[in-house]
Amino acid sequence: MPLTIYSLHAWEILDSRGRPTLAVEATLSDGASATAQVPSGASTGTHEAVELRDGDPKRYGGKGTLRAAGHVNTEIARVAAGRNADDQAALDAELIALDGTADKSRLGANALLGVSCAVARAVSHSRRQPLYQTLSLGSPRLPVPMINILSGGLHAGANIEFQDFLIIPHGFDSFAEALEATVKIHGAAGSLIRRAGHVLNGVADEGGWGPLLSSNQAALALLTDAIVESGFQPGAQVSIAIDVAASHFYEDGRYRLTSEGRSLTSEEMVDLLARWTREFPVVSIEDGLFEDDWDGWRVLTEKLADKTQIVGDDFFTTNESRLRRGIEAGCANTVLVKMNQIGTLSETFGVCRLAKENGYAAVVSARSGETEDSFLADLATATGAGQIKIGSITRSERLAKYNRLLELESRHGLAWQGRDFSTGILGRRRG
Ligand code: PGA
Ligand code: ZN
Repeated sequence: MPLTIYSLHAWEILDSRGRPTLAVEATLSDGASATAQVPSGASTGTHEAVELRDGDPKRYGGKGTLRAAGHVNTEIARVAAGRNADDQAALDAELIALDGTADKSRLGANALLGVSCAVARAVSHSRRQPLYQTLSLGSPRLPVPMINILSGGLHAGANIEFQDFLIIPHGFDSFAEALEATVKIHGAAGSLIRRAGHVLNGVADEGGWGPLLSSNQAALALLTDAIVESGFQPGAQVSIAIDVAASHFYEDGRYRLTSEGRSLTSEEMVDLLARWTREFPVVSIEDGLFEDDWDGWRVLTEKLADKTQIVGDDFFTTNESRLRRGIEAGCANTVLVKMNQIGTLSETFGVCRLAKENGYAAVVSARSGETEDSFLADLATATGAGQIKIGSITRSERLAKYNRLLELESRHGLAWQGRDFSTGILGRRRG
Protein backbone atom coordinates (compact mmCIF):
# COMPACT_ATOMS: atom_id res chain seq x y z
CA MET A 1 0.00 0.00 0.00
CA PRO A 2 1.56 3.35 -0.95
CA LEU A 3 1.88 5.90 1.83
CA THR A 4 -0.32 8.84 0.89
CA ILE A 5 -1.27 12.23 2.29
CA TYR A 6 -4.57 12.05 4.16
CA SER A 7 -4.96 15.66 5.31
CA LEU A 8 -3.17 18.97 5.85
CA HIS A 9 -3.99 21.66 8.34
CA ALA A 10 -2.28 25.06 8.82
CA TRP A 11 -2.69 27.76 11.43
CA GLU A 12 -1.11 31.07 12.41
CA ILE A 13 1.53 31.02 15.18
CA LEU A 14 4.10 33.59 16.38
CA ASP A 15 7.82 33.58 15.66
CA SER A 16 10.67 34.55 18.02
CA ARG A 17 10.05 38.26 17.35
CA GLY A 18 6.34 37.98 18.11
CA ARG A 19 5.37 38.18 14.43
CA PRO A 20 2.91 35.82 12.79
CA THR A 21 4.15 32.81 10.87
CA LEU A 22 2.71 29.37 10.04
CA ALA A 23 2.48 25.90 11.51
CA VAL A 24 1.37 23.06 9.22
CA GLU A 25 0.29 19.58 10.29
CA ALA A 26 0.38 16.70 7.82
CA THR A 27 -1.46 13.44 8.47
CA LEU A 28 -0.73 10.36 6.36
CA SER A 29 -2.80 7.38 5.29
CA ASP A 30 -1.31 5.15 8.02
CA GLY A 31 -2.23 7.68 10.74
CA ALA A 32 1.30 9.11 11.16
CA SER A 33 1.19 12.85 11.61
CA ALA A 34 3.67 15.68 12.22
CA THR A 35 3.92 19.46 12.40
CA ALA A 36 6.46 21.85 10.90
CA GLN A 37 6.86 25.56 11.66
CA VAL A 38 8.03 28.16 9.15
CA PRO A 39 10.74 30.78 9.91
CA SER A 40 10.83 34.41 8.77
CA GLY A 41 13.71 36.81 8.01
CA ALA A 42 14.16 40.54 8.64
CA SER A 43 17.22 41.36 6.56
CA THR A 44 15.75 39.68 3.52
CA GLY A 45 17.19 39.53 0.02
CA THR A 46 15.28 41.14 -2.85
CA HIS A 47 15.31 37.88 -4.83
CA GLU A 48 13.70 35.68 -2.17
CA ALA A 49 10.47 33.80 -2.77
CA VAL A 50 7.47 35.72 -1.41
CA GLU A 51 6.30 35.19 2.15
CA LEU A 52 2.56 35.79 1.90
CA ARG A 53 1.20 38.31 4.45
CA ASP A 54 -2.43 39.32 4.85
CA GLY A 55 -1.89 43.07 4.41
CA ASP A 56 -4.82 43.72 6.74
CA PRO A 57 -3.72 46.69 8.88
CA LYS A 58 -6.22 45.76 11.60
CA ARG A 59 -4.26 42.59 12.47
CA TYR A 60 -0.53 42.51 13.36
CA GLY A 61 0.12 45.64 11.29
CA GLY A 62 -0.73 43.74 8.08
CA LYS A 63 1.68 40.87 8.86
CA GLY A 64 -0.99 38.23 9.59
CA THR A 65 -0.65 34.85 7.88
CA LEU A 66 -4.31 33.80 7.74
CA ARG A 67 -4.37 33.92 3.94
CA ALA A 68 -1.34 31.63 3.67
CA ALA A 69 -2.92 29.26 6.23
CA GLY A 70 -6.18 29.41 4.28
CA HIS A 71 -4.39 28.37 1.09
CA VAL A 72 -3.03 25.27 2.82
CA ASN A 73 -6.40 24.40 4.30
CA THR A 74 -8.32 24.67 1.03
CA GLU A 75 -6.56 24.62 -2.33
CA ILE A 76 -3.32 22.86 -1.33
CA ALA A 77 -5.06 20.30 0.93
CA ARG A 78 -7.45 19.36 -1.89
CA VAL A 79 -4.64 18.80 -4.40
CA ALA A 80 -2.34 17.02 -1.93
CA ALA A 81 -4.89 14.56 -0.56
CA GLY A 82 -4.24 11.05 -1.87
CA ARG A 83 -0.77 11.92 -3.29
CA ASN A 84 2.24 9.74 -2.61
CA ALA A 85 3.90 11.07 0.57
CA ASP A 86 7.15 9.17 -0.07
CA ASP A 87 7.96 11.10 -3.24
CA GLN A 88 9.03 14.50 -1.92
CA ALA A 89 10.28 15.69 -5.32
CA ALA A 90 6.92 14.97 -7.00
CA LEU A 91 4.97 16.59 -4.16
CA ASP A 92 7.11 19.74 -4.27
CA ALA A 93 6.85 19.93 -8.07
CA GLU A 94 3.07 19.71 -7.68
CA LEU A 95 3.08 22.53 -5.12
CA ILE A 96 5.22 24.73 -7.38
CA ALA A 97 2.95 24.07 -10.38
CA LEU A 98 -0.17 24.76 -8.33
CA ASP A 99 1.21 28.12 -7.22
CA GLY A 100 2.08 28.92 -10.83
CA THR A 101 4.27 32.00 -10.22
CA ALA A 102 8.06 32.34 -10.42
CA ASP A 103 8.31 33.77 -6.89
CA LYS A 104 5.57 31.71 -5.16
CA SER A 105 3.61 34.86 -4.50
CA ARG A 106 0.15 33.42 -5.21
CA LEU A 107 -0.05 30.74 -2.51
CA GLY A 108 2.97 31.99 -0.53
CA ALA A 109 6.41 30.40 -0.05
CA ASN A 110 5.53 30.15 3.66
CA ALA A 111 2.48 27.99 2.85
CA LEU A 112 4.43 25.76 0.44
CA LEU A 113 7.42 25.28 2.75
CA GLY A 114 5.21 24.41 5.73
CA VAL A 115 3.55 21.64 3.70
CA SER A 116 6.83 20.39 2.23
CA CYS A 117 8.49 20.04 5.67
CA ALA A 118 5.43 18.71 7.53
CA VAL A 119 5.00 15.90 5.01
CA ALA A 120 8.72 14.97 5.21
CA ARG A 121 8.54 14.80 8.99
CA ALA A 122 5.30 12.78 8.92
CA VAL A 123 7.04 10.29 6.60
CA SER A 124 9.89 10.00 9.13
CA HIS A 125 7.32 9.24 11.85
CA SER A 126 5.64 6.67 9.63
CA ARG A 127 9.00 4.95 8.99
CA ARG A 128 9.98 5.33 12.67
CA GLN A 129 13.21 6.97 11.56
CA PRO A 130 14.98 10.05 12.89
CA LEU A 131 14.22 12.90 10.51
CA TYR A 132 17.82 13.19 9.24
CA GLN A 133 17.64 9.61 7.96
CA THR A 134 14.46 10.27 6.01
CA LEU A 135 16.00 13.41 4.51
CA SER A 136 19.44 11.89 3.96
CA LEU A 137 21.24 12.46 0.68
CA GLY A 138 23.62 9.60 1.41
CA SER A 139 26.37 10.63 3.79
CA PRO A 140 24.96 12.33 6.88
CA ARG A 141 27.36 14.14 9.21
CA LEU A 142 27.03 16.63 12.02
CA PRO A 143 27.73 20.21 10.95
CA VAL A 144 30.31 22.61 12.33
CA PRO A 145 28.40 25.56 13.76
CA MET A 146 28.93 29.22 12.93
CA ILE A 147 27.66 30.90 16.11
CA ASN A 148 26.54 34.47 16.60
CA ILE A 149 28.22 36.28 19.52
CA LEU A 150 27.72 39.98 18.60
CA SER A 151 24.95 41.46 16.47
CA GLY A 152 24.61 44.71 14.57
CA GLY A 153 22.65 46.01 11.59
CA LEU A 154 18.97 45.20 11.30
CA HIS A 155 19.16 42.61 14.10
CA ALA A 156 20.32 44.99 16.84
CA GLY A 157 19.00 48.49 16.13
CA ALA A 158 21.74 49.37 13.61
CA ASN A 159 24.31 50.07 16.38
CA ILE A 160 27.04 49.12 13.95
CA GLU A 161 26.55 48.25 10.27
CA PHE A 162 27.75 44.64 10.01
CA GLN A 163 25.01 42.22 11.02
CA ASP A 164 26.75 39.23 12.60
CA PHE A 165 30.07 38.63 14.32
CA LEU A 166 30.29 34.88 14.78
CA ILE A 167 32.73 32.25 15.91
CA ILE A 168 33.48 28.92 14.25
CA PRO A 169 34.67 26.51 16.96
CA HIS A 170 36.33 24.02 14.61
CA GLY A 171 39.34 22.73 16.56
CA PHE A 172 37.57 20.38 18.98
CA ASP A 173 36.96 16.66 19.22
CA SER A 174 33.17 16.73 19.41
CA PHE A 175 30.19 18.95 18.76
CA ALA A 176 29.50 19.03 22.52
CA GLU A 177 33.01 20.36 23.23
CA ALA A 178 32.68 22.96 20.49
CA LEU A 179 29.43 24.16 22.05
CA GLU A 180 30.96 24.31 25.51
CA ALA A 181 33.79 26.47 24.17
CA THR A 182 31.19 28.73 22.58
CA VAL A 183 29.36 29.28 25.86
CA LYS A 184 32.66 30.29 27.46
CA ILE A 185 33.48 32.75 24.66
CA HIS A 186 29.95 34.20 24.72
CA GLY A 187 30.36 34.82 28.48
CA ALA A 188 33.81 36.34 28.02
CA ALA A 189 32.49 38.68 25.32
CA GLY A 190 29.74 39.85 27.71
CA SER A 191 32.31 40.56 30.45
CA LEU A 192 34.57 42.45 28.04
CA ILE A 193 31.67 44.60 26.87
CA ARG A 194 30.70 45.45 30.46
CA ARG A 195 34.29 46.13 31.51
CA ALA A 196 34.79 48.49 28.58
CA GLY A 197 31.72 50.43 29.77
CA HIS A 198 29.66 49.92 26.58
CA VAL A 199 25.88 50.04 26.79
CA LEU A 200 24.57 46.46 26.51
CA ASN A 201 21.40 46.52 24.44
CA GLY A 202 20.13 43.24 25.89
CA VAL A 203 19.79 40.25 23.65
CA ALA A 204 19.66 40.79 19.89
CA ASP A 205 17.30 39.03 17.45
CA GLU A 206 19.51 35.95 17.13
CA GLY A 207 20.36 35.70 20.83
CA GLY A 208 23.82 37.33 20.76
CA TRP A 209 24.91 40.55 22.44
CA GLY A 210 23.83 43.79 20.74
CA PRO A 211 26.22 46.27 22.39
CA LEU A 212 26.62 49.92 21.43
CA LEU A 213 30.16 49.48 20.13
CA SER A 214 31.98 52.29 18.35
CA SER A 215 32.68 50.46 15.08
CA ASN A 216 32.72 47.17 13.18
CA GLN A 217 36.47 46.99 13.72
CA ALA A 218 35.94 47.33 17.49
CA ALA A 219 33.55 44.37 17.33
CA LEU A 220 36.17 42.23 15.56
CA ALA A 221 38.82 43.22 18.14
CA LEU A 222 36.46 42.44 21.01
CA LEU A 223 35.54 39.04 19.60
CA THR A 224 39.22 38.15 19.09
CA ASP A 225 39.94 39.20 22.70
CA ALA A 226 37.03 37.07 23.95
CA ILE A 227 38.50 33.98 22.21
CA VAL A 228 41.94 34.61 23.73
CA GLU A 229 40.55 35.45 27.18
CA SER A 230 38.66 32.14 27.15
CA GLY A 231 41.95 30.29 26.69
CA PHE A 232 41.50 29.25 23.04
CA GLN A 233 43.84 29.76 20.12
CA PRO A 234 42.35 32.09 17.51
CA GLY A 235 42.64 30.51 14.09
CA ALA A 236 43.75 27.08 15.35
CA GLN A 237 40.75 26.23 17.53
CA VAL A 238 38.28 29.04 17.04
CA SER A 239 37.99 31.34 14.03
CA ILE A 240 35.75 34.27 13.19
CA ALA A 241 33.01 34.58 10.58
CA ILE A 242 31.20 37.79 9.67
CA ASP A 243 27.87 38.42 8.01
CA VAL A 244 28.33 41.89 6.56
CA ALA A 245 24.77 41.92 5.11
CA ALA A 246 26.07 44.72 2.89
CA SER A 247 22.84 45.21 0.89
CA HIS A 248 21.35 46.85 3.95
CA PHE A 249 23.78 49.76 4.09
CA TYR A 250 24.36 50.13 0.34
CA GLU A 251 23.02 53.40 -1.07
CA ASP A 252 23.56 55.05 -4.45
CA GLY A 253 26.49 52.82 -5.37
CA ARG A 254 28.34 53.24 -2.08
CA TYR A 255 28.75 51.28 1.14
CA ARG A 256 27.88 53.65 3.98
CA LEU A 257 29.83 52.63 7.07
CA THR A 258 28.55 55.40 9.32
CA SER A 259 30.16 54.00 12.49
CA GLU A 260 33.54 53.92 10.72
CA GLY A 261 33.00 57.45 9.40
CA ARG A 262 33.44 56.36 5.77
CA SER A 263 31.53 55.69 2.61
CA LEU A 264 33.26 53.17 0.34
CA THR A 265 33.20 52.08 -3.29
CA SER A 266 32.95 48.38 -4.04
CA GLU A 267 36.74 48.08 -4.50
CA GLU A 268 37.46 49.94 -1.27
CA MET A 269 35.04 47.64 0.54
CA VAL A 270 36.92 44.61 -0.83
CA ASP A 271 40.22 46.11 0.35
CA LEU A 272 38.79 46.74 3.82
CA LEU A 273 37.51 43.16 4.10
CA ALA A 274 40.87 41.83 2.85
CA ARG A 275 42.67 43.88 5.51
CA TRP A 276 40.43 42.53 8.25
CA THR A 277 41.11 38.94 7.19
CA ARG A 278 44.81 39.71 7.77
CA GLU A 279 44.36 41.55 11.09
CA PHE A 280 41.79 39.22 12.65
CA PRO A 281 41.21 35.44 12.44
CA VAL A 282 38.36 35.93 9.94
CA VAL A 283 37.89 32.83 7.76
CA SER A 284 34.38 33.42 6.42
CA ILE A 285 32.69 36.51 4.95
CA GLU A 286 28.97 36.46 4.12
CA ASP A 287 27.32 39.05 1.88
CA GLY A 288 30.43 41.22 1.87
CA LEU A 289 28.91 43.21 -1.00
CA PHE A 290 25.48 44.30 -2.30
CA GLU A 291 23.27 41.48 -3.62
CA ASP A 292 23.44 42.67 -7.26
CA ASP A 293 27.04 43.92 -7.33
CA TRP A 294 28.11 41.01 -9.58
CA ASP A 295 31.36 42.71 -10.70
CA GLY A 296 32.29 43.45 -7.12
CA TRP A 297 31.60 39.85 -6.09
CA ARG A 298 33.96 38.63 -8.81
CA VAL A 299 36.74 40.90 -7.53
CA LEU A 300 36.07 39.90 -3.90
CA THR A 301 36.26 36.23 -4.91
CA GLU A 302 39.44 36.66 -6.95
CA LYS A 303 41.18 38.43 -4.09
CA LEU A 304 40.04 36.35 -1.13
CA ALA A 305 38.49 33.03 -2.09
CA ASP A 306 41.65 30.93 -1.95
CA LYS A 307 41.96 31.55 1.78
CA THR A 308 38.52 32.66 2.86
CA GLN A 309 35.03 31.28 2.69
CA ILE A 310 33.03 33.78 0.59
CA VAL A 311 29.36 33.16 1.35
CA GLY A 312 26.35 34.31 -0.66
CA ASP A 313 23.12 34.76 1.34
CA ASP A 314 21.04 37.66 -0.07
CA PHE A 315 23.32 37.25 -3.09
CA PHE A 316 22.15 33.70 -3.94
CA THR A 317 18.86 33.56 -1.97
CA THR A 318 19.04 29.71 -2.06
CA ASN A 319 18.08 29.97 -5.71
CA GLU A 320 19.54 27.48 -8.19
CA SER A 321 19.59 29.88 -11.11
CA ARG A 322 21.36 32.61 -9.11
CA LEU A 323 23.86 30.05 -7.78
CA ARG A 324 24.47 28.76 -11.33
CA ARG A 325 25.10 32.31 -12.56
CA GLY A 326 27.48 32.87 -9.62
CA ILE A 327 29.41 29.68 -10.38
CA GLU A 328 29.73 30.63 -14.06
CA ALA A 329 30.82 34.17 -13.22
CA GLY A 330 33.35 33.07 -10.57
CA CYS A 331 31.50 34.66 -7.66
CA ALA A 332 31.77 33.32 -4.06
CA ASN A 333 32.71 29.78 -3.04
CA THR A 334 29.93 29.03 -0.55
CA VAL A 335 26.15 29.24 -0.48
CA LEU A 336 24.01 30.01 2.57
CA VAL A 337 20.99 27.68 2.51
CA LYS A 338 17.72 29.04 3.89
CA MET A 339 14.69 26.91 3.01
CA ASN A 340 12.18 29.75 3.09
CA GLN A 341 14.19 31.83 0.63
CA ILE A 342 13.15 29.32 -2.02
CA GLY A 343 10.05 27.65 -0.55
CA THR A 344 10.33 23.85 -0.86
CA LEU A 345 12.54 21.13 0.52
CA SER A 346 13.36 19.70 -2.94
CA GLU A 347 14.61 23.04 -4.26
CA THR A 348 16.72 23.38 -1.11
CA PHE A 349 18.27 19.97 -1.83
CA GLY A 350 18.79 21.06 -5.44
CA VAL A 351 20.88 24.02 -4.30
CA CYS A 352 22.96 21.81 -1.96
CA ARG A 353 23.56 19.36 -4.80
CA LEU A 354 24.55 22.05 -7.30
CA ALA A 355 26.96 23.55 -4.75
CA LYS A 356 28.59 20.19 -4.09
CA GLU A 357 28.99 19.35 -7.78
CA ASN A 358 30.85 22.62 -8.29
CA GLY A 359 33.08 22.52 -5.22
CA TYR A 360 31.11 25.17 -3.38
CA ALA A 361 30.57 24.73 0.36
CA ALA A 362 27.09 25.05 1.91
CA VAL A 363 25.99 26.47 5.25
CA VAL A 364 22.45 25.56 6.35
CA SER A 365 20.98 28.62 8.04
CA ALA A 366 18.11 29.72 10.27
CA ARG A 367 16.33 33.09 9.96
CA SER A 368 16.34 35.93 12.48
CA GLY A 369 12.65 35.17 13.09
CA GLU A 370 12.63 31.52 14.19
CA THR A 371 10.43 29.01 15.96
CA GLU A 372 10.98 26.11 18.33
CA ASP A 373 11.15 23.75 15.33
CA SER A 374 14.50 21.90 15.18
CA PHE A 375 14.12 20.80 11.51
CA LEU A 376 17.35 22.56 10.46
CA ALA A 377 19.54 20.40 12.72
CA ASP A 378 18.38 17.31 10.85
CA LEU A 379 18.50 19.04 7.49
CA ALA A 380 22.11 20.17 7.95
CA THR A 381 23.07 16.67 9.11
CA ALA A 382 21.17 14.96 6.29
CA THR A 383 22.65 17.04 3.48
CA GLY A 384 26.17 16.59 4.81
CA ALA A 385 26.49 20.34 4.20
CA GLY A 386 29.13 20.43 6.91
CA GLN A 387 28.15 23.76 8.45
CA ILE A 388 25.15 25.30 10.20
CA LYS A 389 24.30 28.89 11.24
CA ILE A 390 21.42 29.17 13.70
CA GLY A 391 22.21 32.13 15.95
CA SER A 392 23.62 32.36 19.45
CA ILE A 393 23.51 30.09 22.50
CA THR A 394 20.64 31.97 24.18
CA ARG A 395 16.92 32.06 23.22
CA SER A 396 15.12 28.75 23.00
CA GLU A 397 14.32 28.98 19.28
CA ARG A 398 18.13 28.74 18.78
CA LEU A 399 18.67 26.11 21.51
CA ALA A 400 16.01 23.86 19.99
CA LYS A 401 18.44 23.30 17.10
CA TYR A 402 21.66 23.09 19.16
CA ASN A 403 20.01 20.68 21.59
CA ARG A 404 18.85 18.51 18.72
CA LEU A 405 22.43 18.39 17.38
CA LEU A 406 23.62 17.32 20.86
CA GLU A 407 20.98 14.58 20.73
CA LEU A 408 22.11 13.46 17.28
CA GLU A 409 25.68 13.25 18.55
CA SER A 410 25.00 11.59 21.88
CA ARG A 411 21.94 9.42 21.34
CA HIS A 412 22.22 8.65 17.64
CA GLY A 413 26.01 8.42 17.64
CA LEU A 414 26.61 10.63 14.62
CA ALA A 415 30.21 11.62 14.05
CA TRP A 416 31.45 15.19 14.16
CA GLN A 417 34.57 16.35 12.48
CA GLY A 418 35.88 19.85 13.08
CA ARG A 419 36.65 21.57 9.83
CA ASP A 420 40.21 22.59 9.06
CA PHE A 421 39.93 26.25 8.14
CA SER A 422 43.72 26.60 8.30
CA THR A 423 43.95 25.20 4.78
CA GLY A 424 41.38 27.59 3.38
CA ILE A 425 38.22 26.70 1.58
CA LEU A 426 39.94 25.53 -1.61
CA GLY A 427 42.56 23.52 0.21
CA ARG A 428 45.35 26.08 -0.07
CA ARG A 429 47.26 27.16 3.02
CA ARG A 430 46.40 30.44 4.69
CA GLY A 431 49.33 32.82 4.25
P1 PGA B 1 17.50 37.30 8.26
O1 PGA B 1 19.05 37.32 8.67
O2 PGA B 1 16.93 36.01 8.69
O3 PGA B 1 16.95 38.49 9.01
O4 PGA B 1 17.48 37.50 6.77
C1 PGA B 1 19.89 36.22 8.65
C2 PGA B 1 21.07 36.45 7.75
O5 PGA B 1 21.20 37.51 7.10
O6 PGA B 1 21.92 35.57 7.63
ZN1 ZN C 1 23.08 36.83 5.98
